Amino acid sequence: MKVLERLDELYAIGGGPGANRVGGSAEEDRAHELAAGWMEQAGLAVEVDPAGNLIGRAGDGRVWTGSHLDTVPHGGRFDGALGVVAGIEAVARAGEGAVVAFRDEERGCGGSLALVGRGELPACFVELHIEQGPVLERRGVPLGIVTGITGMARGTRVFEGREGHAGTVPMESRQDALVAAAGYVLRVRDAAAALEGAVATVGRLTVEPGAGNVIPSRVEVSVDARAPDRKRLNRLVAQLGIEPAFRLEPVPMAPAPRAALEQELLARGLPVVELPSGAGHDAAVLAGAGVPTAMLFVRSLNGGISHSPAESTAPGDVELAVDVLSAAFARLLGASD
Ligand code: GLV
Ligand code: MN
Ligand code: MN
Repeated sequence: MKVLERLDELYAIGGGPGANRVGGSAEEDRAHELAAGWMEQAGLAVEVDPAGNLIGRAGDGRVWTGSHLDTVPHGGRFDGALGVVAGIEAVARAGEGAVVAFRDEERGCGGSLALVGRGELPACFVELHIEQGPVLERRGVPLGIVTGITGMARGTRVFEGREGHAGTVPMESRQDALVAAAGYVLRVRDAAAALEGAVATVGRLTVEPGAGNVIPSRVEVSVDARAPDRKRLNRLVAQLGIEPAFRLEPVPMAPAPRAALEQELLARGLPVVELPSGAGHDAAVLAGAGVPTAMLFVRSLNGGISHSPAESTAPGDVELAVDVLSAAFARLLGASD
């Protein structure tokens, strides 16, 4: 299938393990070049906006689909890329509408935030994405409709200490910034665990001066905190003591594009499973800006593992997802006339 071959081509960029197309890198640029070529082959009018987002349009481009082409380091084959490659197919089949490859989603939805910041809002947006969780696999269904996208806040905490010789400073007189940071990492875990539906992650420590025989003098700790509603997100952020540099509010998906997806599932005799998204998406940025937005999830395998080379979904599920996305997209175009 063309979609799977294109996902393979994207996956090969930058070498392994996994997908390595971090936002702002030459590898992300290369992915955009490839996708631009596929859009041209599909007869779409290709445009790059000031933020570097790649847009392929046909006819009246008011209904949009798409996703992102950047990845985390050692990411999966489907995260983001599937929504772009399938979106090209959906617009090509419809002969109308637009597909967008947003820039730099993983580090903070830079491309979609820039787009909505310019006030360039479509009539409707629908994003296909791999679930990145275990729900659909456990329920034994290939596709699901997203009810809403969790809220997310990212920030950093800095711990200061005093550097010194690892061999000569007695334990009782040390001010070790990493020991302080380690206590904080445990508090992050405990705060999220105590709040129903919340999660929080420390994924990066920057230790200075960063030598094995020097007591750490400064540690910067990254914090990613998520909760399904604003109240719990505010509470978590306050407990963790971060000033978020990036925040996405929790958003519900819109009834009309959700209904279009549901009708296409029902038309194929598929069960309608609805589920929330714990991952962030460009769709959350568009929905937050007031664009009627929906998301279709395709079943993840391997227990839903994602942000990992082990991310997987079955070829038959991908084919079905492309078909349902395309049909729902055409339905939304019809409704927007
Ligand atoms: C994006 O993948 C996120 O949820 O971090
Ligand atoms: Mn993604
Ligand atoms: Mn991701």
